[in-house]
Amino acid sequence: MSQRLKLGVNIDHVATLRQARGTSYPGIIEAALVCEQAGADGITVHLREDRRHIQDKDVFELRDHIETRLNLEMANSPEILEIALRLKPDEVCMVPERRLELTTEGGLDVAGLGEQLIGAVEKLSSAGIAVSMFVAPDHDQLEACAKLGAPCVELHTGSFCDSSGETADRELLRLTEAAQHAHELGLVVNAGHGINIDNLRNILRIPHMCTLNIGHSIIARAVFKGLGESVREMIREMAGYSGGK
Ligand code: PXP
Repeated sequence: MSQRLKLGVNIDHVATLRQARGTSYPGIIEAALVCEQAGADGITVHLREDRRHIQDKDVFELRDHIETRLNLEMANSPEILEIALRLKPDEVCMVPERRLELTTEGGLDVAGLGEQLIGAVEKLSSAGIAVSMFVAPDHDQLEACAKLGAPCVELHTGSFCDSSGETADRELLRLTEAAQHAHELGLVVNAGHGINIDNLRNILRIPHMCTLNIGHSIIARAVFKGLGESVREMIREMAGYSGGK
């Protein structure tokens, strides 16, 4: 039987709301604890170089207070790497980062940057942190991830989630083939970006997934339903996952 599909809740946008007014609320720890109580398997945050939402203090407080897994998304920058090595999250997901983007727009070009990523992957792995690469569902990227020695990949689901009709069908096929390929390479397969309660049904057709990282749609839905119910609802919908079969 396939393993239960896990949910990592990305709470960056709780911090976005706080930073918009420079207030002390809504609290990041409170949000993380509500997600955990609702059944989330992990908390994901992206400490961006521009600190537009999550702050350094947040990540260290989360490390001290959460009981599930802490997944830190980060760019390959010496400053953030130094923080990650002190923080020791359970997982690090390496992502590309551009100052002007609204959110992480594309996958990390592991195939092109391979050499530049080796140092960070080795340091993080030696510190006992599970390293994941956020990549587009492409053959060459997955081969490069396996070569680099990172144990996990997070497949970028954004192109599928943002499309419709035949394009969406093509993107879903790409994700399905990539998940199969990553699995054959021995990589743990996670997925994320743009997933919401409506497109989830099709996302669940992708095989071999271990964890979905979902942020914006859960926080947005929390405006109407409350954060706990928004998380519970997503978990209920994910419960039917049978390995994409
Ligand atoms: N996974 C990664 C690597 C991301 O960068 C993001 C966005 O921060 C997410 C998942 C969550 O995406 P969304 O907020 O669209 O659910």
